[in-house]
Amino acid sequence: GANEAKKMIEAHELLKKFYHHLLLNTKEGQAAFDYLQARGWTREIIEQFEIGYSPNSWDFAVKFLTGRGFSLELMEKAGLVIRKENGGYFDRFRNRIMFPIHNHHGETVAFSGRMLGEGQPKYLNSPETLIFHKGKILYNFHQARLHIRKRQEAVLFEGFADVVSAIKAGVAYAVATMGTALTEDQARILRRNVESVIICYDGDTAGIEATFRAAELLSGTGCHVKIATIPDGLDPDEYIRKYGSERFQRDVIEASNSFMAFKMAYLRRGKNLQNESDQIRYIEEVLQEISQLTNPIEKDYYLRQLANEFSLSLSALQQQLERYKKTKD
Ligand code: CTP
Ligand code: MN
Ligand code: MN
Ligand code: MN
Ligand code: MN
Repeated sequence: GANEAKKMIEAHELLKKFYHHLLLNTKEGQAAFDYLQARGWTREIIEQFEIGYSPNSWDFAVKFLTGRGFSLELMEKAGLVIRKENGGYFDRFRNRIMFPIHNHHGETVAFSGRMLGEGQPKYLNSPETLIFHKGKILYNFHQARLHIRKRQEAVLFEGFADVVSAIKAGVAYAVATMGTALTEDQARILRRNVESVIICYDGDTAGIEATFRAAELLSGTGCHVKIATIPDGLDPDEYIRKYGSERFQRDVIEASNSFMAFKMAYLRRGKNLQNESDQIRYIEEVLQEISQLTNPIEKDYYLRQLANEFSLSLSALQQQLERYKKTKD
């Protein structure tokens, strides 16, 4: 119950501080520290996120936790150690860069451990526990909350590295879903705190698909949605490393556009809009999207935009739109 949860959080807080110390101040943590520096992360940003290092040992956490009076049975429930067939225990996280995950009160409730370099799994996460429900937490929400509320805007990323680099680049209102699809709970958390959400997922195929789903879900919750697109299949962290903070702010975040603009850009891909039949196909596909809109102002706006772009009469487009509505009902 409540007491178990309290103990689990206490264990996470203590381990977090020790992992962080190992990364910053010891020879054991040197390779991990070098890896992070090579990714462009300063000591300052590592400190802000309390990133740590779990040593290459089967029983570091086991000894650390028992030495401080925690029962290993409870630590197993907390996801920090794993039980062996013979009844012994070993560490879940070994030789990994440790990202502490905080709940929205700022308490440490889980970890994600990244490999130094390539390998599988790249990130190893705490399991679902009494204190950690992945689908109900947004990474970095506890630090970003005030900035988010002040701006009435949040930027939503896929992963840890994207948030860390975005914050380093001066985007303080950054949170992430930790890889999995945005859940209803997470969408509601955002809605309760902001008017507007900028989705800034990876520029690869998976990221683009996830963008569609997240945008639908957030719009359905009543958020105003904008999409920031990252070119060349890069992810936000890679983009920041390649082009720098200013360009990220200006060309990605400030250049974020409506969901409809994102859909139109998507529909244009692989089409030659100089070609008549491609053009007609494109116009029809955009009209189908417009027919799904519920806001009459938006509907009118995009209809006019389409009419202007292809020198069509508004009434022809409206007629066709009526047909889509009828076939849909
Ligand atoms: N993720 C995970 N487990 C994995 C892979 C990914 O939990 N095996 C989650 C992590 O939260 C990760 C996010 O999904 O940050 C996005 O995945 P991906 O784009 O593959 O990783 P990056 O965040 O780009 O990680 P890095 O830059 O460190 O390679
Ligand atoms: Mn904290
Ligand atoms: Mn990805
Ligand atoms: Mn990525
Ligand atoms: Mn990345």
